[in-house]
Amino acid sequence: MQIEELDPTDPAARRAWHDVTERSVRADRPHALTTTFEAFEVLATSPSEHVARTWLQAVVGGEVVGTADLELPLTENTDVAWTEVAVLPGHRRGGVGRALWVAVAERARAAGRRRVGGEVTVDLEAPGPGLDFAAAVGAVEKHHEDHLLADLPVAAAPLDPAYEVVSRRGRCPDEHRAAYLAMRNQMNLDVSSGELELEVAVLDDARLASSEERLMRSYDVRVAAARRRSDGVFGGYSLLFVPHGADYGWQDDTLVMPEHRGHRLGAALKAVNYACLPDDVRLVHTWTAPTNAAMHRTNTALGFRVVERMAEVEVTL
Ligand SMILES: CC(C)(COP(=O)(O)OP(=O)(O)OC[C@H]1O[C@@H](n2cnc3c(N)ncnc32)[C@H](O)[C@@H]1OP(=O)(O)O)[C@@H](O)C(=O)NCCC(=O)NCCS
Repeated sequence: MQIEELDPTDPAARRAWHDVTERSVRADRPHALTTTFEAFEVLATSPSEHVARTWLQAVVGGEVVGTADLELPLTENTDVAWTEVAVLPGHRRGGVGRALWVAVAERARAAGRRRVGGEVTVDLEAPGPGLDFAAAVGAVEKHHEDHLLADLPVAAAPLDPAYEVVSRRGRCPDEHRAAYLAMRNQMNLDVSSGELELEVAVLDDARLASSEERLMRSYDVRVAAARRRSDGVFGGYSLLFVPHGADYGWQDDTLVMPEHRGHRLGAALKAVNYACLPDDVRLVHTWTAPTNAAMHRTNTALGFRVVERMAEVEVTL
C-alpha cells in the first residue's frame, strides 16, 4: 500500500478521490451529508486564502482504497489541523486508516500544528467503526452535536406580526451588509463548541464577499432575516444551503439577536426558508448540540428527528 498526495490538477484523480470517499462514508451512514462532487471540485481547484488543503489517498494495486483530507487554517487557529479519514469497506482492518492518519499527522506537525481535530459521525441505529478508530489514534471527544433530518414540508411556524421577513438568495445586498455582518459575528461568538478551544473567526466585508463568492459556486445560498417593523432593526437570520442539483438542503446558522429573543423568530425564519424551496427539495439536514435546549426544541417542534451523533474529537500531537 502506498500513501500519495492527490494531484488536484488531474480531473480523473479528483473524481476517484471523491468517489472513494463518498462510498466509504455512505457504507455505514445512510443519512450522511457528504460534500457533492461539484462542491469538492470548487475546493480542489480554487485554493482559499484562509485554509490550505491537501488530499491524501491510499493506493493498493493501482486502485484508491482510502482517503484523507488535511485542512490547515491560515488566518486563525494556526496551531490546529483538521482531517477526516475514510476507507472502503472491503479494505478495512488492514492498517489503511492508520497509515493515512500517520501521513496526516506528519504533515500537520511539519506545518507547525500542535493538534488535529476532526468530526466523527455515527448512525444512531448502527454506529460504525469511526469512534473506535478515533480512540485508537489517540483522539479525545471535545464536543458533540446531534444530526437531525426533517422531511418537507415542516410544521407551520407563524411569524410574530411585529416583524417582517426579508429573504434573499446569494449575495447579501449592500444596504443590509452591516447588519448582516453584525449578526454573523454574533453567531460566531454565541455558538457553543464545548471544550474545543478555538479562536473565533471575525468576518469583515471582504471576507464575507469572498466566502459568498465561493459558496455560490457550489450552493444555492438562501437567507431569511427578521426585521422589526417599528424601527427596521434586524433581529435574526437563518442560513440554508442547497447543493446545486440536490434534492436536499442543509440548515446552517440560525441566530436571534439577544434583545429579539422570545418571539419564536428562529422557527419562523427556518419555516420561511423551507417554504420558498423548489418542490424537488424534500429534505433538510441540521446539527444542534443537545445542550442547546432552545434550538433543539425548535427543531423537534418543526419535525426534525435525530438520526446521527457527531463528535468533534481532537488528537494532541
Ligand atoms: C474508521 C476507518 C477510517 C478505519 O479504517 P481502517 O483501515 O479499517 O483502520 P485500521 O485498519 O488502520 O485500524 C486502526 C485501528 O482502529 C481501530 N478500529 C478500526 N476499525 C475498528 C472496528 N470496526 N472495531 C474496533 N476497532 C476498530 C482498531 O484499534 C484498529 O487497530 P487494529 O486493527 O490493530 O485493532 C474506516 O472504518 C472508515 O472509513 N469508516 C467510515 C468513515 C469514518 O468513520 N472515519 C473516521 C472519522 S475521521
